[in-house]
Amino acid sequence: MKQYIFMKIIIINGPNLNLLGKREPEIYGKESFGDYFVLLQKKFSNLELEYFQSNIEGEIIEKIQQTGFNYDGIVLNAAAYTHTSVGIGDTVKAVTTPVIEVHISNTFSRESIRHQSYISGHARGVILGFGLQSYDLALSYFANQQ
Ligand code: DQA
Repeated sequence: MKQYIFMKIIIINGPNLNLLGKREPEIYGKESFGDYFVLLQKKFSNLELEYFQSNIEGEIIEKIQQTGFNYDGIVLNAAAYTHTSVGIGDTVKAVTTPVIEVHISNTFSRESIRHQSYISGHARGVILGFGLQSYDLALSYFANQQ
């Protein structure tokens, strides 16, 4: 039997994204990330997908360090830390795995504090404003690499 080696991709979500579905649904939608992740796994069955969420900055940094030299891709929504964390930005810069920064909302159409990102300058690319579909678009980038 032919053995396929799938690209290993992790989605890392930052603070409050565990509340998706309950949190400000007019901005972030009504679907939980758990439900959406099941759909992503079905759609991208040619990717080995993993999911991690934390409300703690240091845990996000550790997860990027752990996966950032041996996974094929990271899809990162650092949520509010995007706009505040030099530390997460430094980690994204340090690792060799390509990181795609994603946001559910169009952060540029919101308050000016959300226009600043410590991650964008070190990311392979940035996708924002497409609702949960932002994750789908980021995974499509990786799926098209193989
Ligand atoms: C977010 C945008 C951030 O400004 C905000 O703090 C979030 C979610 C988004 O996905 O739209 O928590 O990253």
